[in-house]
Amino acid sequence: MASIQLFALVLIYICVFFTLCLAGDPFVYYDWEVSYITASPLGVPQQVIAINKKFPGPIVNVTTNNNVVVNVSNALDEELLITWNGIQHRRNSWQDGVLGTTCPIPVGWNFTYQFQVKDQIGSFFYFPSIKFQRASGGYGGIIVNNRAVIAVPFGPPDGDITILIGDWYTQNHTALRRALSAGKDLGMPDGVLINGKGPYQYNRTLVPDGIDYETFNVEAGKTYRIRIHNVGISTSLNFRIQGHNLLLVETEGTYTVQQNYTNLDIHVGQSYSFLVTMDQNASTDYYVVASARFVNESLWKRVTGVGILHYSNSKGKAAGPLPDSPNDFYDKTFSMNQARSIRTNTSAGAARPNPQGSFKYGSINVTDVYVLKNEPPVTINGKRRTILSGISYVNPDTPIRLADWFRLKGVYTLDFPNRPLTGSPRMSSSVINATYRGFMEVILQNNDTTIQTYHMDGYAFFVVGMDFGEWTENSRSTYNKWDGVSRCTTQVFPGAWTAILVSLDNVGVWNLRTQNLDSWYLGQEVYVRIVNPEATNKTELPIPDNAIFCGQLKDRKQPPHNTVKSSSPSVSDRRLSRQFFNLLMLLFAVISMFR
Ligand SMILES: *[C@@H]1O[C@H](CO)[C@@H](O)[C@H](O)[C@H]1NC(C)=O
Ligand SMILES: *[C@@H]1O[C@H](CO)[C@@H](O)[C@H](O)[C@H]1NC(C)=O
Ligand SMILES: *[C@@H]1O[C@H](CO)[C@@H](O)[C@H](O)[C@H]1NC(C)=O
Ligand SMILES: *[C@@H]1O[C@H](CO)[C@@H](O)[C@H](O)[C@H]1NC(C)=O
Ligand SMILES: *[C@@H]1O[C@H](CO)[C@@H](O)[C@H](O)[C@H]1NC(C)=O
Ligand SMILES: *[C@@H]1O[C@H](CO)[C@@H](O)[C@H](O)[C@H]1NC(C)=O
Ligand SMILES: *[C@@H]1O[C@H](CO)[C@@H](O)[C@H](O)[C@H]1NC(C)=O
Ligand SMILES: *[C@@H]1O[C@H](CO)[C@@H](O)[C@H](O)[C@H]1NC(C)=O
Ligand SMILES: *[C@@H]1O[C@H](CO)[C@@H](O)[C@H](O)[C@H]1NC(C)=O
Ligand SMILES: *[C@@H]1O[C@H](CO)[C@@H](O)[C@H](O)[C@H]1NC(C)=O
Ligand SMILES: *[C@@H]1O[C@H](CO)[C@@H](O)[C@H](O)[C@H]1NC(C)=O
Ligand SMILES: *[C@@H]1O[C@H](CO)[C@@H](O)[C@H](O)[C@H]1NC(C)=O
Repeated sequence: MASIQLFALVLIYICVFFTLCLAGDPFVYYDWEVSYITASPLGVPQQVIAINKKFPGPIVNVTTNNNVVVNVSNALDEELLITWNGIQHRRNSWQDGVLGTTCPIPVGWNFTYQFQVKDQIGSFFYFPSIKFQRASGGYGGIIVNNRAVIAVPFGPPDGDITILIGDWYTQNHTALRRALSAGKDLGMPDGVLINGKGPYQYNRTLVPDGIDYETFNVEAGKTYRIRIHNVGISTSLNFRIQGHNLLLVETEGTYTVQQNYTNLDIHVGQSYSFLVTMDQNASTDYYVVASARFVNESLWKRVTGVGILHYSNSKGKAAGPLPDSPNDFYDKTFSMNQARSIRTNTSAGAARPNPQGSFKYGSINVTDVYVLKNEPPVTINGKRRTILSGISYVNPDTPIRLADWFRLKGVYTLDFPNRPLTGSPRMSSSVINATYRGFMEVILQNNDTTIQTYHMDGYAFFVVGMDFGEWTENSRSTYNKWDGVSRCTTQVFPGAWTAILVSLDNVGVWNLRTQNLDSWYLGQEVYVRIVNPEATNKTELPIPDNAIFCGQLKDRKQPPHNTVKSSSPSVSDRRLSRQFFNLLMLLFAVISMFR
């Protein structure tokens, strides 16, 4: 009898042991060396930023709740920070990789990022966040897969393809940066890249010989998930694949209402995934096109991004004209209506099994309202700058989050205005003082003549409305209060507004910025500071052990430059202690049985 009991207990113990092993959130490790390599995507040799000698960098392919550890070795000739666009870093703005939270990684140093992709799924990307470096590359895709137990609202695709599209200059980021600092406009980009490569020779006059282009190899009858990110500087791009429908299924972490598009406008910093079925007859290859949007075609004498979709049974090369882009230079209504048509699939679960529409954002009372207005570039103290609500943001030498942690005073101010300031614009480190657990409404008003896209770190927000003209209180009556899409980057058309709602449940200091790199570089951003008034260590992780110090803190002891220590007890430590506890319990049980 006793031996049967013992056997049962051992069995139970083994089960518990394995459950705990499986329940611990796994770690995924990456080791990156960031350096320059020479590449000639548009036929002109130039220095581009590569990761492990690859441009674009590797795909970060992880699953919900994984702990991601990325060793970054800075082999550039200047400081570096990597930001994880769309990763929410819950309770952990320390790992966000922007100047408001983190000191830059000095030349020759190693720094290890460690964060959990908590309760997220979807398609995102990373990029270097400072010194205009994104203009030279250093970017790559991020995939956060669903856990196996969570249903995905479509069948498993036959393949998963990441496509990074973006405008490109043959001048490197240091030259572009210098031009901006000298008050110049960057002018028209030199072309559009697809996965770091130039165009297929779709036109012999426009595209020189010998350009390396991207080929996507597919098989007839199969369905692929294609994840597309606009990683460029400032150009909105229209994406399309000749002869194929794009079935939109996800954007920046939300499963969408599934709709076919023949082309979609993808603005700077936005990410989408489509299912594409290879249902054509393969009489030729097909063009994959990313073309500049809202540019005067007769002035834009630049190459369009063109890759090749190659069926394994293809009977020949792609030929003839590219598939048509929308032709509506003067009328952005088509594009806005397309944006409005992107809605949440309210019955699908995302990272958790409950429906995405179960959070009734439309019936929550707003606590904080901000109207953020950008204008065409202005001159402040003789310098060309960009502004939000009359303020051109200046990064203090000491990151805001570090200043708070060490209780430094006077690093920044908490006086960012709810409504745009009138009067002459000024430079300032003015931060939004937001209410923890509040519900914030932000109206982005674009007074410039170009499209702006805005992104908020640490959060996904509900895009509830957009329209032309000036936003007024009455505009609220047009809000979509039911299935507005939840995402992290939204476009704001020129002379128009976009309204977003954000549930402020993630403590930290978070960047709210334009994704247009030149506007961002010149000050069109702000930080949102969300502090839990209650003194607790539960709602935010402490400063990581490997934090680098700069500014007023530069004399603090710096971490050894190659540490990989985690800030909190690592999951594997906790798992071990739990197993030890279980072992003790088993021992007690066995002893009591034999007494
Ligand atoms: C960028 O280009 C300039 C010339 O325009 C050159 O002097 C400089 O070395 C380049 N920088 C890098 C990092 O390649
Ligand atoms: C990502 O990893 C999963 C396994 O976790 C694998 O099935 C999938 O093919 C990978 N996707 C890509 C694009 O590498
Ligand atoms: C190639 O581009 C040039 C310049 O835009 C245009 O004049 C010409 O018609 C194009 N050729 C073809 C075959 O489309
Ligand atoms: C999308 O287009 C494909 C053909 O490419 C068609 O089979 C499918 O039914 C369409 N789906 C929707 C939701 O319209
Ligand atoms: C393949 O499709 C194209 C475009 O729809 C058509 O013009 C062509 O005749 C078809 N070829 C064959 C062999 O069916
Ligand atoms: C594009 O630019 C050309 C040359 O400046 C001009 O003649 C034409 O009217 C412009 N087209 C549009 C649609 O603005
Ligand atoms: C929102 O505010 C209204 C009036 O101020 C109040 O009646 C209602 O209960 C509030 N709703 C929620 C969900 O707090
Ligand atoms: C920031 O907001 C909190 C609560 O919302 C308030 O208590 C505090 O006084 C504000 N601080 C400043 C400097 O405005
Ligand atoms: C910018 O704002 C001014 C003043 O409110 C307005 O007259 C003008 O039409 C606006 N321009 C755009 C492009 O929104
Ligand atoms: C939070 O943690 C810090 C050290 O990491 C400690 O000094 C502080 O007392 C803790 N605060 C609370 C409220 O537990
Ligand atoms: C990350 O760096 C640390 C210290 O340099 C090293 O011990 C660790 O093995 C590295 N991890 C990976 C995956 O390379
Ligand atoms: C940084 O990491 C690389 C490997 O990624 C290693 O070779 C190098 O020694 C490390 N440098 C420092 C200063 O720790």
